[in-house]
Amino acid sequence: MIKKSIMPLFLFITVFVLAFTLPSQSQNDNKKYYPGEKSESVNPKQIIKPRINGPLVYGSRPGHPFLYRIPCQGNRPMRFVVRGLPEELHLDKEKGIISGVTPPRGEYSMVIEARNPKGKDKRNFKIVSGDKIALTPPMGWNHWYAHYSRITDKMMREAADVIINSGMADVGYQYVNIDDCWMNAPKHSDPERVGPLRDENGNILPNSYFPDMKGLTDYIHGKGLKAGIYTSPGPLTCGGFSGSYQHEEQDAKQFVAWGFDFLKYDWCSYGRIAGIDKSLEAYQKPYLQMGNILESLNRDIVFNLCQYGMGEVWKWGAEVGGNSWRTAGDLGFELHRIFDIAISNSNHRQYSKPGEWNDPDYIQIGWIGNAREEGIPKPTTMPRNMQYAYMSLWCLMASPLIYSGDLSKIDEFTLGILCNPEVIEIDQDPLGEGGLVIPRDSSSFVMVKNLVDGSLSVGLFNRRKNPAEVSVNWNELQITGRRTVRDLWRRKDIGVYNNKFIAEVPAEGVVMIKISK
Ligand code: GLA
Repeated sequence: MIKKSIMPLFLFITVFVLAFTLPSQSQNDNKKYYPGEKSESVNPKQIIKPRINGPLVYGSRPGHPFLYRIPCQGNRPMRFVVRGLPEELHLDKEKGIISGVTPPRGEYSMVIEARNPKGKDKRNFKIVSGDKIALTPPMGWNHWYAHYSRITDKMMREAADVIINSGMADVGYQYVNIDDCWMNAPKHSDPERVGPLRDENGNILPNSYFPDMKGLTDYIHGKGLKAGIYTSPGPLTCGGFSGSYQHEEQDAKQFVAWGFDFLKYDWCSYGRIAGIDKSLEAYQKPYLQMGNILESLNRDIVFNLCQYGMGEVWKWGAEVGGNSWRTAGDLGFELHRIFDIAISNSNHRQYSKPGEWNDPDYIQIGWIGNAREEGIPKPTTMPRNMQYAYMSLWCLMASPLIYSGDLSKIDEFTLGILCNPEVIEIDQDPLGEGGLVIPRDSSSFVMVKNLVDGSLSVGLFNRRKNPAEVSVNWNELQITGRRTVRDLWRRKDIGVYNNKFIAEVPAEGVVMIKISK
């Protein structure tokens, strides 16, 4: 029993404690969130304890070669255990690489565990063996906006090294993709890239900078990563190198023999073949052909359509076997229009689903070369806040996350943008929903993405050159009641909100949150 004399004091203390510990409605209801100008950039290497990242679901075709490096941050060495691993698969316990042959059609649920002297982590993982691959947006690196027609085997290998050593692979970056210019060209400023396009049997010939394609993919696979390649359905690629016209099947088989896992198929000079025919069939023809070829081969190859959005490709890209399709021209020419490009890409959100992704092109930050002149990489001039907005938009849109910048020069800030696992998790959400734009005024907008667990992610974007208030109401999100809000870039819960969230958004930047029950 509490003595009468101390009752008032007891009540006072109780009320005082409750006021400061319970997230009261009035505390946050109308309170504007001030994140500050600077977003925190966390270098992935600073994570000490194991933190398992990567998608929750992973698709592969029955009987095909299987390779998956478990993305996991934290100090190495580390020990991995996978409970429920199908017998067709083997786990390298030190490296956390799962390999073997995809088990028969079906769903296989498992639990991944990782442990180091500082701690441990656990995460559910499901392999879906079936027709679909790329169940979450592909993540990786492409050489184009860093190295253009300067690319070499050596640079590709170095890129794979950096993807591992920088910690990028530990948050899910997986594909190491060669773009144009690995083949011979009929003419080029670099004579080392000029030579016969094919051998006497019609096999496509890599140029002298790529002496051993199988050796290159073996090197990449040895790290648990995957390799991507590029060609065109036309006689020549956009860079004027050998294309696959009339050798489609032969080339696809060659890519499989070399061990590639991803194909970018770039329209380029196919325009000359299609001629004046602007029918839907004409746009679809080369992609349908390659889609069918890839489907018949004994290897999972992610099929990336690159034809700049012609014939509203988002409506039929999946039908012809595509896993992703560029929705517009080259983003390298339009980096000053990131917000507009994202808004127009998100118009096609209804076509975004597991295995079928709208592709607004690569993430070009860090050191990149000017696309107009195939320039030597220089630090981006994009404002830092806009870089956060860029990455946020891509994740909210469930876009493929393919970084295209010079990995040999990658800096802490860029890694912080590319490697925030909570932001990436929004991109990799198994629902695969593309974000919906809710317009505000001409200089601000909101993008909303529903997540598989019933929570939502929201980006509040400010295009002005000054900080500005941007808000979102629960009724616009079709939710009600008190919700926990987490700032995903700063990786902290910021309170419980009711009905509305208002933030002071940095100039040309974003506040990206997750709203959970
Ligand atoms: C086109 C594509 C780019 C790149 C270049 C290579 O422009 O859209 O992404 O692949 O070709 O020449």
